[in-house]
This record gives sequence, C-alpha cells and structure tokens, in this order.
Amino acid sequence: MPSALPSLRTLSKLALGGVQVLLGSGQTVLGGTPAACSNPQLSCHNTTVVADLCCFNAPGGQLLQTQFWDTDPATGPDDSWTIHGLWPDRCDGTYDANCDTTRDYSNISAIIQSFGKTDLLSYMQTYWKDYQGNDQTFWQHEWTKHGTCISTLNPECYSDHKATEEVVDFFQKTVDLFKTLPSYEWLAAAGITPSTSQTYTTSAIQAALAAKRPGVSVTLGCKSSTLNEIWYHYDVRGSVQTGEFVPADPDGTKSTCPASGIKYLPKNGGTGTPTSAPGTGTSTSVPTGTSAPGTPFSGKGYLNVQVSGAKKGCIISAGTWYTTGTCATFTSATSGSGFTLSSSKGKCGVVSGVLTCGSSVTATSFTAVNGQLAAGGNAVWSADQAASGSTQEKVYAGGDHASQISIVWQSI
Ligand SMILES: *[C@@H]1O[C@H](CO)[C@@H](O)[C@H](O)[C@H]1NC(C)=O
Ligand SMILES: *[C@@H]1O[C@H](CO)[C@@H](O)[C@H](O)[C@H]1NC(C)=O
Repeated sequence: MPSALPSLRTLSKLALGGVQVLLGSGQTVLGGTPAACSNPQLSCHNTTVVADLCCFNAPGGQLLQTQFWDTDPATGPDDSWTIHGLWPDRCDGTYDANCDTTRDYSNISAIIQSFGKTDLLSYMQTYWKDYQGNDQTFWQHEWTKHGTCISTLNPECYSDHKATEEVVDFFQKTVDLFKTLPSYEWLAAAGITPSTSQTYTTSAIQAALAAKRPGVSVTLGCKSSTLNEIWYHYDVRGSVQTGEFVPADPDGTKSTCPASGIKYLPKNGGTGTPTSAPGTGTSTSVPTGTSAPGTPFSGKGYLNVQVSGAKKGCIISAGTWYTTGTCATFTSATSGSGFTLSSSKGKCGVVSGVLTCGSSVTATSFTAVNGQLAAGGNAVWSADQAASGSTQEKVYAGGDHASQISIVWQSI
C-alpha cells in the first residue's frame, strides 16, 4: 500500500472525533450503540432463527470486500488495488440486490459531505474508482444494489435516525475494511508483482494472501487469464457498523482464474514499480496523488489537476481546467490559517460554487487538506466532464459534478 495510508488513517480518526461532536446525540452515526447488540451471533453460523436483524446480518450474512486491479484503463495509484464494494451474500454464494429502491441516492458525495466526512470522500476519490471516470454513478450503484441489502444498515436499526446516515456508514465501513486489506503490498511481499512477462499460479496467489489472513482463501477474478479482482469474505458478529468482521472462506465457488498462467499486468504499462505523483518532482515517499506534505501552496506555482491520482492538465488564469497549453502561474499568500491565490487575471475565489480568478473576485481563504487544495475544508472539486483538447472546464467546489478532481501545488 502507498505510504499515504497511515496519515490518512490518522486523519479519518480525527474527522470521526469531530463529527461525533458535531452530531451530538446521533452516536449511532459513527459507532452505533454497541450495548444494543449484546452477545451478537456470528452471521451464517446460527442454528435457529435470529429475530433482531439489526444486530445480525441476514439474509445477507457473508460480507465481501471486493477489490479491482484495473489496468486498461488504469484506475487509482499504480501501487494499490482499488475498491469495488461491500456485498452481502446469502451464506450460500447467492445474493440479493436492489433491496430498497426508495433509497437509491444519486448524490452520494453530497450525502457524505453533509455529515462532514471530507476525508472519507477524498479517500474514495483516490481509491474507489470507476474505470470510465463516473465515480459518483458507480458509488450510487454499489450503495443501491448491495448496500440497501445489508439488514443491519436499515434505517430502523438507528435510534434517532437521520436520513441517509446509513449511507455514510456503508462507505466508511467499506473504506475502513479496504485499508486493512492492502492486496498490492501482500502480493508483493510474496514476490507477486505486476509484470508484462511473468505469470503466476492460483495457489501462489492464495498462499500469499493466506499468509496475511490465515486459514481462509479468497475469490480471485480473472478476465482472459488476467487477474483483475480479489474478493475478501467475512462473516460478521454483530452489525456492519460496529460488529466484528471475521475472515471466512468464500460461501460459493466463484473464482474465475485458471490454476496457472495468470497474468498480473502493470498499470500504465510500467514495470509495476511505484512511481511518484506526476508534477511533484519528489521521491516515492510522497503519497501518490498528493503534493509533498509540509510544502504546500506557498510562493509561486502551478495548480495541477489530478484525476485518479494522475496529473491531467492544470488550472489556467481564469480558474478553469485545461489539459493543453501552458499552466498559469499562481501566487500564494498567507491569509489567517490558510492562504489566498491569485493569477494574472486577479484574485481567486469560489464564486457561485465555481473556482474563478478575476479583478472583481473576492479572494477565498483556501487551505491544504492532505496536500490538496481545499475550499471550506473540502478538497473535492468537480467538472461537468474531464477536460480534453482545447475545451476548458469550469471547476466546481465539491464533488457534485460528473468528473471529480483534486488540485495540487507545484512550486516553480
Ligand atoms: C438464521 O437466522 C436467519 C434470520 O433470522 C434465518 O432466516 C435463518 O433461517 C436462520 N438459520 C437457521 C439455520 O436457523
Ligand atoms: C440526497 O438526495 C436525497 C434524495 O433525493 C435527498 O432527500 C437528500 O436531502 C439529499 N442529500 C443531500 C445532502 O443533498
């Protein structure tokens, strides 16, 4: 896993504390009421009917944290798998889907933001990627298809339920689990690294992962003998929000990889060696996709745009996103606990939700969150589509437009 993870973990813990304060009585939002689940049973292991499905996951009792390795097109950092989802299986390999279409939300980013969880959203922007760039639609699909089938996430399982809070719990739990399952690192530790020439066996891959999760196997997904998915199976003692995830063998035989000759291809046609973030010009110790912590946004620099952690153009003087041509030079000046930015056009600010620089603009006091430009503490920005060719895109504060981006500083 990239070295970014420990610091992100710390950040999300801090954010968690902050949100708990913010929400006061809504303790079930982040951590639930463990007392309500005394002596919970392990899902898929009950021998009699369990009545309280808020403390016991059923019928979807086996939870799968599913991960992608996308190389064509590549998504996410070169040295990390990405998140597919968290799926409830019926303990026998079958599963339910789309269990409550009244909770089919197309505004996942806004929901997460409305609970103050910008760190969660930033993390998802890097590690929970749609291969076509439609992250928001992908997250909606994962929540609606799978999340609404998790019994312990039902609104009635919350005391003083706040609309959509279970959605946040779903994404938070998935991310928290993913952070404990660093597939890239685990495979690399057994000498299984991306390669255009090497092939691997199912037993070697299973052994590499079983070294980290003793006693259980995983589901491996291949397309044309090329490894592209790992599914980690769990049974759960208690709720998804607060219960114990117990590693389990797959509840069905769904691996699609051959016994041998499995290809594990590098992302971006490289050698599989972790690369530093484009534009930062620093070593591999820099978290992929962010600029070096400690040297953000001072003096003169470029505002580089990143999509899926890869540099894709930059912000030009009016505040729009452009992928061809010369990057505009911005000047950063300290302002309170943050900084202001200006270009040749004038001061930069968020005007009616849009990043704008001009002579009549009131400067916004920006901050850096994990090395990324943030307005109002939110480092997520978006555009109606990915900039390409000679088209400039407006850059909106927040993730509600189709193409989500982050903005990092490159000193010049
Ligand atoms: C386990 O509990 C679930 C939920 O109440 C129930 O549907 C299922 O039949 C139970 N399994 C057994 C073996 O009793
Ligand atoms: C998200 O969408 C739902 C359904 O349209 C709506 O009820 C809810 O208020 C929205 N949440 C936010 C934070 O915009």
